Amino acid sequence: MSTTFVLDTSTSRANPTPAPIKRLTVPAIQRRKVDGRTQEPLVMLTAYTARMAQILDTHCDMLLVGDSLGQVIYGLPSTLSVTLDMMIAHGAAVVRGSYHSVVIVDMPFGSYEASPQQAFASASRIMAETGCAAVKLEGGQAMAETISFLSQRGIPVMGHIGLTPQAVNALGGYAARGKSREEHDKIIADAQAVARAGAFGMVIEGVMEEIAIAATQSVDVPTIGIGASAQCDGQVLVIDDMLGMFDRVPRFVKRYADLATSIGETAAHYAADVRARNFPTEDQVYRPKK
Ligand code: KIV
Repeated sequence: MSTTFVLDTSTSRANPTPAPIKRLTVPAIQRRKVDGRTQEPLVMLTAYTARMAQILDTHCDMLLVGDSLGQVIYGLPSTLSVTLDMMIAHGAAVVRGSYHSVVIVDMPFGSYEASPQQAFASASRIMAETGCAAVKLEGGQAMAETISFLSQRGIPVMGHIGLTPQAVNALGGYAARGKSREEHDKIIADAQAVARAGAFGMVIEGVMEEIAIAATQSVDVPTIGIGASAQCDGQVLVIDDMLGMFDRVPRFVKRYADLATSIGETAAHYAADVRARNFPTEDQVYRPKK
């Protein structure tokens, strides 16, 4: 039996190299929040490589190339030494590996805080060299001018408020934010400032749940929670955390798998085979055909 299938490969200037499916767009993500509510929560995971993007793509609305790759991929002690070049290399890989999800790339520490102009130079490089649809940057009211500058120049921005890991030295660690009334009010004001400035959505990380709920109710763009609340408009996790690649994870992570154990056991199996000369077997060696 022969199988016939037809690919829609029709080209246009807007689509000169047709992909098999139409990718979600930033406005489509934003439109998921209607009258202050997102009927079906948005799904976001981090991805740093093409292969992981391929595996996650159909299950997600957004793939975030987070600067958490500093710790996850490079073993750095924090996100502070992640560079623009690192983000661009991994961002391009994730775009190549995905067809469906909106790909968002983090702006690394030091690439955007000095001025809106500096942020535009960095963000436009990220967009041009990766093909991603949006960038994410950390900070609330202090970043409003920059978010507005980028948004008005065709660069969709996702905000990131609450616990902002690039500010780890100023915050004194990674503890949840919003325990005092003052901090509570500041985080809500940050959410409103980021939304007003034109961000199409925002990550709310590591805050008291009531703050995440109040912030979500007080802005008309989607909030994506991590260590926040199930009442946010969507959720994000660092992929290696949820796959169980680390021994310890923050309280807010649900481990959906224990891949570190599986990989360790698989490597032990391989090592035992090699040492016993049980690998390669005749199936895995080349011999002249008879
Ligand atoms: O860098 C990252 O992975 C992030 C998520 C934790 C939201 O910013």
